[in-house]
Amino acid sequence: MPVAAYDEIADWYADWVGGLHNSYSERVADVLRRLIPPGDGRTSLDIGCGTGARAGVLRDLGWQPVGVDLSTGQLRHARRILPVAAADATALPIATGSVDLAVSILTHTDLPDYPGVIAEAARVVRPGGRFVHVGIHPCFTGAFADRSDPARIVVDSGYHRRERRWDSFTTQGVRNRVGAWHLPLADLLNAFQAAGLEIVDTVESGPEAGVPDVFAVAAVSSPRQSAA
Ligand SMILES: C[S@@+](CC[C@H](N)C(=O)[O-])C[C@H]1O[C@@H](n2cnc3c(N)ncnc32)[C@H](O)[C@@H]1O
Repeated sequence: MPVAAYDEIADWYADWVGGLHNSYSERVADVLRRLIPPGDGRTSLDIGCGTGARAGVLRDLGWQPVGVDLSTGQLRHARRILPVAAADATALPIATGSVDLAVSILTHTDLPDYPGVIAEAARVVRPGGRFVHVGIHPCFTGAFADRSDPARIVVDSGYHRRERRWDSFTTQGVRNRVGAWHLPLADLLNAFQAAGLEIVDTVESGPEAGVPDVFAVAAVSSPRQSAA
């Protein structure tokens, strides 16, 4: 079982993400509203649910969210908001083809094997079901990108480094606390195809008049692949 880096900062994260009544959290919610169809009371799986910060928008869309996360510290907060279980996202304790919707929101930089998470999401989603990934933008956000000026991001050759890094342009956020792995854009997109998922929509979102800091993908589990 991997180490749960968020256990030590769970109280800080709950305050931080709960206090984000600003454009960032609203933009993440807008992206989810665009990529997720009405749930009509069906169950959705929030992979890496953290403190449960996205349960509200999922419910507003008609879904009943259930969460899994590695960090029991994060889940201490989340279980007040939604049903949860402690689990590793690369080995989900969920039956194959059993959920209509799986989401993974702002998690891909928190573990070394995100393609493994996409493969697990593809496994648990029923044929024709949907997986929605929302993450920091892999091209313009990371230790390789100086975002001090939101209108002019400076990207360096560290873009090619995939190992976990703690360096960040700010000391106020998550990354200087728990670090971040980096998955280049091509690797992220290729992981969907490798998992048998068909990308049906993508979204980039950023601050007004700024460079995007969020990149999201909606993908559908191919009935043919699942039947094979
Ligand atoms: C930045 S937080 C995002 C939480 C939540 N999705 C949100 O939008 O606020 C990343 C989460 O991924 C979880 N995580 C990291 N590695 C994981 C793994 N292998 N399995 C399950 N969850 C994991 C962390 O514990 C943390 O709660």
